[in-house]
Amino acid sequence: MDIQWYPGHMTKAKRQMQEDLKIIDLVIELLDARIPLSSGNPDIDEMAKGKARIVLLNKADMADPAENEKWKRYFEEKYGNCLLIDSRKKNTFKNLPSLIREACREKILRDEKRGIKNRPVKAMVAGIPNVGKSTFINSCAGRASAKTGNRPGVTRGKQWIRMDAGVQLLDTPGILWSKIGDQDSARRLAITGSIRDEILDVEDLALYYIGFLKSEYPRIITENYGSDAEKAEHEILYDIGSGRGCVLKGGKTDTLKAASLILDDFRKAKYGRITLEKAEMI
Ligand code: G4P
Repeated sequence: MDIQWYPGHMTKAKRQMQEDLKIIDLVIELLDARIPLSSGNPDIDEMAKGKARIVLLNKADMADPAENEKWKRYFEEKYGNCLLIDSRKKNTFKNLPSLIREACREKILRDEKRGIKNRPVKAMVAGIPNVGKSTFINSCAGRASAKTGNRPGVTRGKQWIRMDAGVQLLDTPGILWSKIGDQDSARRLAITGSIRDEILDVEDLALYYIGFLKSEYPRIITENYGSDAEKAEHEILYDIGSGRGCVLKGGKTDTLKAASLILDDFRKAKYGRITLEKAEMI
């Protein structure tokens, strides 16, 4: 399976983000804590050049806590700041406004020198599909349902969400596309759900994921799936299918259904917190 992916509407999304960036002081980059490398888009360095930057490792509640801490340190060294957040819960990023002001200190001082007082810092959130941008914005705005603006092409006036007296957040996110570096990274993106399943070979993906579990979390294969981590990937998939009642007419095990179940388990963190990209990879 070769995953090639650059959805057509991304050209428009990129143009929109470049336009929005003109009025932005700081970019909040949302990464998926389970795949901090593959959920980043290197083009953001160029697009957000000259802007202050904050990195948020979102979905940290689903990622391995030990890996979270390592990644946090890595991004702190790289960008000077990083928070581990669950964007559904505002209290996991309650000190974000003060971090933002700190990151924009030079601009604030510059304003003061020019006699401009209390001009709020303007921030925008950016990230690849499904990383949690709308959830984050909705939490900041204190509303439950998504706005329609998270799609390029939906035109409406700019709206700002007041994070505190000194910080405002643009309520439409910058949508970045997944920059597929290699097929491993593509598969990890797909496992987390940031590439639509329809264009994927779900069974291939599940076998890849089982291979990862074998080497990193063999306990899940034995304890949760009741198989044997020493077996080959396709045998484990077969075992899981049989164990979960995935049976085709005629009694054969439905490995495609089993594959979907396994990926769904990961996406719901059913068997615990799993990080697909370990900090040792860098
Ligand atoms: P996007 O705008 O970047 O495309 O992502 P969006 O906010 O739509 O979030 C994608 C999915 O990820 C949503 O789940 C959302 O609830 C979930 N999510 C976002 N942030 C977090 C987080 O920090 N932790 C966890 N555990 N989940 C998070 P969904 O199943 O697609 O929708 P729903 O069932 O929540 O409505």
